[in-house]
Amino acid sequence: MSAILVVGGAGYIGSATSRFLRNKGYEVVVLDNLSKGHREAVPEETVLIEGDLGDRARIVEICKEYSIKTALHFAAFTQVGESVEQPSMYFDNNSFRTKNLLDGLVEAGVDQFIFSSTAAVYGEPHEIPISEDHPKSPTNPYGWSKLFVEEMLESYRVAYGLRSVRLRYFNAAGALDGHGEDHTPEAHLIPLVLQVALGQRNSISIFGTDWETPDGTCIRDYIHIADLAKAHFQAMEWLDSGSQGGFFNLGNGEGHSVKEVIETSREVTGHSIPVVETDRRPGDPARLVASNQKAKEVLGWEPDHPTLKEIVGTAWEWHRTHPNGYRSP
Ligand SMILES: NC(=O)c1ccc[n+]([C@@H]2O[C@H](COP(=O)([O-])OP(=O)(O)OC[C@H]3O[C@@H](n4cnc5c(N)ncnc54)[C@H](O)[C@@H]3O)[C@@H](O)[C@H]2O)c1
Repeated sequence: MSAILVVGGAGYIGSATSRFLRNKGYEVVVLDNLSKGHREAVPEETVLIEGDLGDRARIVEICKEYSIKTALHFAAFTQVGESVEQPSMYFDNNSFRTKNLLDGLVEAGVDQFIFSSTAAVYGEPHEIPISEDHPKSPTNPYGWSKLFVEEMLESYRVAYGLRSVRLRYFNAAGALDGHGEDHTPEAHLIPLVLQVALGQRNSISIFGTDWETPDGTCIRDYIHIADLAKAHFQAMEWLDSGSQGGFFNLGNGEGHSVKEVIETSREVTGHSIPVVETDRRPGDPARLVASNQKAKEVLGWEPDHPTLKEIVGTAWEWHRTHPNGYRSP
């Protein structure tokens, strides 16, 4: 029986997707160097191979040993600010090592690939909601490192027949069956807010309250990781049906402000969650909201957990029961 290779499957979204696919009865093989991920996050009955995506020979071996038909690629460094300070590290890990991965897959005869791309490929939005045709103009090396891979993938399809789906996630959030967010350092709003409710931080900072939005705070499109996992499954089925692949936004198509996230977190946790209002951060767009029509029409995808209450609720359940992430007893 063929298996699915999940590169970066010990991380937040990769481990949740591995769980989702296991629940659907697929054999899953995780390749992760554990630089950011957690051994405990990999679902039981899933093979974990500790290794680097830049190790082409190893990738060929793994694909042959496990008869890999499709590879899902989540592995990357993901901190925008760090990418500005250390672009070399980001282009190396996210772009060049991914090229090695692609070369290994092509050598092993794997012809189906699903890539974790990002809304950061669009840069400052010219229109809301952002559709897939929006110009691509990343404002940081992280976004560029992902856009390069998107471009590589199109060339690899034409030249080598590697068919791929590039999924541009907006703000991934929530938890799925014991798989939640455990990043060090944590940069995402929902886990940071919930750390205040856990008593691990005194307050949450709001960067700017004078944006051109109804309550003056930035608006983002939060998408539940269970819905991201489902989209990978549907993208895989689409490739299995012989499709040449393509690219899709994954968001709810609805934005929520920083203040709304904090208010929902207060309701969910019962904690007052003190805030500190500070200046705007350079480079933050006021609004990032996806058009998700294409994924709905082509993949038949529909978010099952679109409400902020459900997203924050599942995240809170995870953080409450895992106050120290995967290191929690
Ligand atoms: N979290 C979000 O909101 C979000 C939004 C848009 C896109 N994405 C993309 O989704 C993907 C997953 O994000 P995440 O939040 O789960 O990140 P994560 O850091 O939790 O997981 C990434 C995993 O990749 C592994 N990894 C990194 N470099 C590796 C290498 N060279 N070889 C092998 N393994 C390696 C890490 O150990 C980690 O387990 C990333 O590609 C990210 O760019 C995430």
